[in-house]
Amino acid sequence: MGIITIQGSTPLRGETVIQGAKNSALPILAASLLSGDVCRIEGCPHLSDVDSAADILRYLGCTVVWEDDDLLVDSRTLTRCDIPQSLMRRMRSSVIFLGAILARCGWAELSYPGGCELGPRPIDLHLSALRALGADISDAGGTLRCRAAHLRGCQIVLATPSVGATENAMLAACGAEGDTVICNAAREPEIADLQEFLCAMGAQVRGAGGSVITVSPGRALHGCAHRVIPDRIVTATYLCAAAAAGGDITLRNTEHRQLAAVTTALRQAGCRVDCGADYIRLTRTEPLRAVPPVQTTPYPGFPTDCQAIFMAALLQSRGTTVFVENIFQSRYRHVPELIRMGADIRTEGRVAVVCGVERLHGAEVVATDLRGGAALVTAGLAAEGITTVQGVGHIHRGYEELPAHLRALGAHITEEN
Ligand code: UD1
Repeated sequence: MGIITIQGSTPLRGETVIQGAKNSALPILAASLLSGDVCRIEGCPHLSDVDSAADILRYLGCTVVWEDDDLLVDSRTLTRCDIPQSLMRRMRSSVIFLGAILARCGWAELSYPGGCELGPRPIDLHLSALRALGADISDAGGTLRCRAAHLRGCQIVLATPSVGATENAMLAACGAEGDTVICNAAREPEIADLQEFLCAMGAQVRGAGGSVITVSPGRALHGCAHRVIPDRIVTATYLCAAAAAGGDITLRNTEHRQLAAVTTALRQAGCRVDCGADYIRLTRTEPLRAVPPVQTTPYPGFPTDCQAIFMAALLQSRGTTVFVENIFQSRYRHVPELIRMGADIRTEGRVAVVCGVERLHGAEVVATDLRGGAALVTAGLAAEGITTVQGVGHIHRGYEELPAHLRALGAHITEEN
């Protein structure tokens, strides 16, 4: 597995273009199954998680080919309705195929999904939404057997606004008879992107972006072309990298309104952030300062996926910042690694207290999850001396060419296989 090496303390300057959103592309790839036709997913990021989704589609009998940054999925040739454990374990999002396969085939067989270790990640809300739609689901030693000769539209009330459960319910509901109303739906921009894709295939879905989503059946679905939205978490990562290292960067292909919670926090920390129709510019010349408590919450609150990278940006800030992780139980695995670099962080349960230090120093650290890995790179950019990051495979799950993008911004960073 590769190693990233960073010679830190160089301000970032220049411009880069943001990749398409991983968390949009993955459910959209699953949804493409519903068309029974050819779908072109434009601006699809080249990521190992996308490769995993493509491998699942190929296993199911689809043809999947890249044309530059577009991924073409031909699902006319679907031959199977099961996913083996080896593919399920590669990422959490494999579970989103359940709703799509059920809607297309009437049955599905798969195991529990893998994904980043962030504490327990149950799929009970996914399963109860599918059961409400009429699926009969049994668990035989970790293999989920799901049958639904006829899915029936219904009202689904999610106990928490789970992103994945909302997506699974939307996909299964596309194959149901009668309207489905999903209440307390997740409001993340990636859900709205999935709705756009479903509508482009001919489905009648409305309300995404709000808490109530309605899926009305009736029309046969067909192939389509759709461009995925920019990745807001990758955007936030580069913003935090420039906040940590200092400098002046401009990011293109962005949607700043989707990042308001993060840009507000960056401004509170002393960065200048200017936003336009499709760009965000961040300038940081002075040392950063601590900010009011950072509480992760569902969209439009502060994203849990930005907790680690923003923490990395604040390690040398003046004062003390409290983080409260409300979404996942165990999302501070980057903290011991940051402490190796000289950070002053204490954690207790869901709370982390960051006291800014004068300087960070390079160290040998290990990425243990996707965003935690990006946080280590962010801290390495700000640290004096050399940082090496192992466990780079986690970073490849969500970042397209992270070292190359940072090099284009002036960072001294390389990756070896
Ligand atoms: C998605 C994102 C991930 C992000 C997360 C929260 C994708 C591919 N991943 O993950 O990057 O960190 O949203 O914004 O889009 N829960 C249950 N039961 C369930 C499902 C979820 O209790 O059946 C809980 C989870 O344990 C967690 C919370 O609900 O505490 C939110 O999880 P969820 O929104 O489902 O996250 P993911 O869809 O897995």
